[in-house]
Amino acid sequence: MNRDEWKEKLSLIKDSFFSALSQPGPDNAEALKVAYLGRKGELSLLLRDLKDFPIEERKALGALGNALKAEFEAALDAKAGVSGRFEARDKCAEDLTLPGYPFPKGGLHPLTVAAAKMCEGFQKLGFSVADGPLIEEDLFNFEALNFAPDHPARDMQDTFYVDLKDARGKDLLLRTHTSPVQIRTMKNTAPPLRVISAGRVFRSEAVDASHSFVFHQLEGFALDRNITMADLKWTLDAFIKDMFGSSAKTAFSPSFFPFVEPGAQVAVSCVFCPGSGARCPVCKGTGWIELLGAGVIHPNVVRNCGYDPEQWSGFAFGAGVERFAMLLYGISDMRTLYENDLRVLKQL
Ligand code: PHE
Repeated sequence: MNRDEWKEKLSLIKDSFFSALSQPGPDNAEALKVAYLGRKGELSLLLRDLKDFPIEERKALGALGNALKAEFEAALDAKAGVSGRFEARDKCAEDLTLPGYPFPKGGLHPLTVAAAKMCEGFQKLGFSVADGPLIEEDLFNFEALNFAPDHPARDMQDTFYVDLKDARGKDLLLRTHTSPVQIRTMKNTAPPLRVISAGRVFRSEAVDASHSFVFHQLEGFALDRNITMADLKWTLDAFIKDMFGSSAKTAFSPSFFPFVEPGAQVAVSCVFCPGSGARCPVCKGTGWIELLGAGVIHPNVVRNCGYDPEQWSGFAFGAGVERFAMLLYGISDMRTLYENDLRVLKQL
């Protein structure tokens, strides 16, 4: 083979390579690579023939051959890239015009809905929303709320302790109620205040139809000049009517919480058996359902937060979110709210 024949052959290889490359087919590129650039590939063999040429010609022709080799490689890479993309597309969707797979949509949990509804009720009355930590200091959960270290009222709120100390060397604990948010807010923000806060609370209790070691509360309080029990009664009555309808009534009876004086239990007229059902399972025939703890903020608490109780007074209330959710959805066992059985949740 002379120089011109070699060049002629190179040009034929080039033509046949590119015409083969333009044929469709996913494996085309791989096969061409072997056929032209492999150990016994056409271009490789032609380059090997150069060994019989004189050195000057070998250099010039070798440069031509290597340039073509680079051209083949680039073309093969480009083709592999394109067919790779086609392959990926073919695997994930045969028909891109079909509608997508149905994607199950979640909903808000009934406890979340109930808490949001309660918060909304108070926001309409001008309350703003605050938040507080779940891991609390004894100071905020008990002491500043007028629970003396050895007061028996602490027994009603036995809790879980965390293996960590606060700044005063006391064990941190899981908050037993949302009332510490009152203290934190009053200490940080100057009155007048109208604040609510909803969230998880913890108590060392056995689980049954109406108790759990973790549940949810909604706290609310106001601090201003001349706030009295009358403001508390009006506020809660307006809230209850908003939640359960204008015919719902509230009844206050005396109760004890260390951080309020006077303190009250607040009951709402039974929404299931308007007053008459002796066998009503919800109110047990009494016509009333106890829903909230409330009262006028104790002067000691006002003082503990740095205000003069002669100048500033307030009211506070706390409600169980589970209790409200059970009434709103007609659930008789609180555990239903924690089991997360989709067959139940979908009905609510
Ligand atoms: N924190 C009280 C409890 O958990 C409820 C409450 C709040 C009572 C505010 C009065 C005022 O039991």
